[in-house]
Amino acid sequence: MAIERTLSIIKPDATRRNLTGKINAKFEEAGLTIAATKRLQLTKAQAEAFYAVHSARPFFNDLVSFMISGPIVAQVLVGENAVAKNREIMGATNPANADAGTIRAEFAESIEANSVHGSDSLENAANEVAFFFAEIEIVA
Ligand code: TYD
Repeated sequence: MAIERTLSIIKPDATRRNLTGKINAKFEEAGLTIAATKRLQLTKAQAEAFYAVHSARPFFNDLVSFMISGPIVAQVLVGENAVAKNREIMGATNPANADAGTIRAEFAESIEANSVHGSDSLENAANEVAFFFAEIEIVA
């Protein structure tokens, strides 16, 4: 299996409840290495740019408002099959549908305040990693 990189975001609902450590433990227990990490407050323009693919969706404005409502933690996760593995660890977008033991099942408050973002393809992962990090900041 290939060693991949994926972009993870711990969202404002989770930073607000000091869940960063518990979420990071899930990544590390699954064998993913946190190769870069950055806590930051997104601007509206940055959140709109990051979620540009969803700009026509009815939930877009609420999603952007939520993502700038507090600090986020952007991270690069590295490991075998990291993109799909992280999606498994996260669980379904709507926590009501998330499997037991996943981050969203345990921690998400709603479909919007769902605690984590994870890249959904290798191509998007490369673009999303580059959105937040310079190569020199990523150390696997
Ligand atoms: P999406 O890419 O479909 O999900 P995922 O984060 O699992 O890849 O949607 C991006 C985010 O948009 C999602 O994490 C939360 C928000 N969202 C809503 O607020 N309402 C919705 O109905 C959907 C589908 C997503």
